[in-house]
Amino acid sequence: MAEFSLRPRFFSEYIGQSRVKENLKVYIEAAKMRGEALDHVLLYGPPGLGKTTLSNIIANELGVNIRTTSGPAIERPGDLAAILTNLQPHDLLFIDEIHRLNRSVEEVLYPAMEDFALDIVIGKGPSARSVRLDLPPFTLVGATTRAGSLSSPLRDRFGVMSRLEYYTVEELTLIVSRAADLLQVPIQEAGAVEIASRARGTPRIANRLLKRVRDFVQVRGEGIITEAGARDALDRIQVDKMGLDHVDHRLLMTIIEKFRGGPVGLETLAATIGEESHTIEDVYEPYLMQIGFLQRTPRGRMVTMRCCEHLQVEWPK
Ligand code: ADE
Repeated sequence: MAEFSLRPRFFSEYIGQSRVKENLKVYIEAAKMRGEALDHVLLYGPPGLGKTTLSNIIANELGVNIRTTSGPAIERPGDLAAILTNLQPHDLLFIDEIHRLNRSVEEVLYPAMEDFALDIVIGKGPSARSVRLDLPPFTLVGATTRAGSLSSPLRDRFGVMSRLEYYTVEELTLIVSRAADLLQVPIQEAGAVEIASRARGTPRIANRLLKRVRDFVQVRGEGIITEAGARDALDRIQVDKMGLDHVDHRLLMTIIEKFRGGPVGLETLAATIGEESHTIEDVYEPYLMQIGFLQRTPRGRMVTMRCCEHLQVEWPK
C-alpha cells in the first residue's frame, strides 16, 4: 500500500528519464488526437528503473484501463487468449519480463499485436480448422531487463522501444525528497543526497534505503533525516559509499581473491558465490560495469584497477 502510493501516477510527478518521457508524451497525445490505441511499447533496461511505473503512467495519461501480467505467469496460449478477449478498446496490457514468454504463447501474440486478431484452431487432426477472432484495438507494453533475449519477430512488432537509463544523483535526490514527503518523514537536503548517492542509480533502491534510514532515525528519536544520520544508518546496513552491498562485495572479492582478478566465466563465478547466473547478469553486473568496476571480456569477467582502489585491496596483476 505505502509502496504503491510512492509511485508517481502521472508524467508531471515522474522525475528523470526525460527523453523517454518527452517522446512518450508526444506518442500519447498523437494517439489521443487520432482516437486510436497507442502503438505497442517496449521498455527495457536494468531492474528498478521504473518500467512498471511508466506503464501505469501511460495508461493514466491515455485514460484507459491497465491489465498487468508477466511472461512466466502466462503458461498456455489459452491464458493469453482469455486476457486479450477481455480487454476494452484501447486498453493497455502490461507484460512484465516479456522475454520469458514461451514460444507457443508468443505465437498468439504476433497476430494480436499486428492485426488485433486471434487465430483459434478448432478440432484435431484432418478436420482441424482455424478461425480468426477480432480483438479490440489495444496497446501492449512489454518490459524486459534484456531486450537482446526477445525473439526478433516479437521485437519487430513494437512501434516504440524505450531504453531506461540509470538516474543521476540529482534526480534520485529529488525522488528521495518526494518519497520522504509522502512518508511524512522530515529530511534535510544533505540527508537526501547521502541516500541518493548510495542508491546505484536506481529509484527502487533509493526508496528502500530511505525506509531503512527512516527506521533508524525514528527509533533513535532524531525526528529528521540528516546527512550524519543517513550515513550512519547506511553504514550499519552495509551499503558502501558507491552503493555496493555485501553481494557486490562478495562477487568482486571472489574474483580478486579466488581468480586473481579474472577473467572468470560467469557460470564458474555464479557457482562460487552461490547466486544464479541470471541474477548476476541482470541485477549486479550492469551497475558494476556502468561504474567501471567490472569488465566483460570474451574470456570472462574481470575486475578493474578502479574497483581494487575502491575496495582498498592490491591490484592482483
Ligand atoms: N519513485 C520511483 N521512481 C520515481 C520517479 N522516476 N519519479 C518520481 N518518483 C519516483
